[in-house]
Amino acid sequence: MRKSMSERKIKILLVCLGNICRSPTAHGVLQRLAEKENLANIIEIDSAGTYGAHVGEMPDRRAMAAASERGYDLGFIRSRKITDQDFTYFDYILAMDHANLADLTLKSPSNHQHKIKLFLSYGSLQDQEVPDPYYGGKEGFNHVLDLVEDAAKGLIHHIKSSA
Ligand code: 4NP
Repeated sequence: MRKSMSERKIKILLVCLGNICRSPTAHGVLQRLAEKENLANIIEIDSAGTYGAHVGEMPDRRAMAAASERGYDLGFIRSRKITDQDFTYFDYILAMDHANLADLTLKSPSNHQHKIKLFLSYGSLQDQEVPDPYYGGKEGFNHVLDLVEDAAKGLIHHIKSSA
């Protein structure tokens, strides 16, 4: 028998390059918003990178500090690289920028391509991409948070209205 929406979790994967700055920030923000909206039991959130150089590491200390100033804890996240199984397992595979989107599109089997979108397509702002803050300063990490908080609200709203 087919499982109903209430029994089956909606699985969301947030993807950037290194999985130490942008996607962990989105992971922590979305997790907290899901908890606040009492949706933590129906939404499963994870994050991954397309580039494996930081596998096993905690998020970048600058990302952790900026998130912590807004009350988000990213300390439970460890960097991992996207796997072939992720394309089957997750319902939403959301890229932080166009390069991540292109990499995911190349890696994904054709029957899962429809899951791949830009995360900011759920946002209310003009921005399409979350810019990579890795080589910049603190303001870049705060800008990531601004964009991610806006898109997280839009994504939660989308899930609530389509459930
Ligand atoms: P992220 O940022 O993709 O937002 O995690 C980066 C992390 C590491 C590198 C680049 C971007 N790197 O070149 O190592």
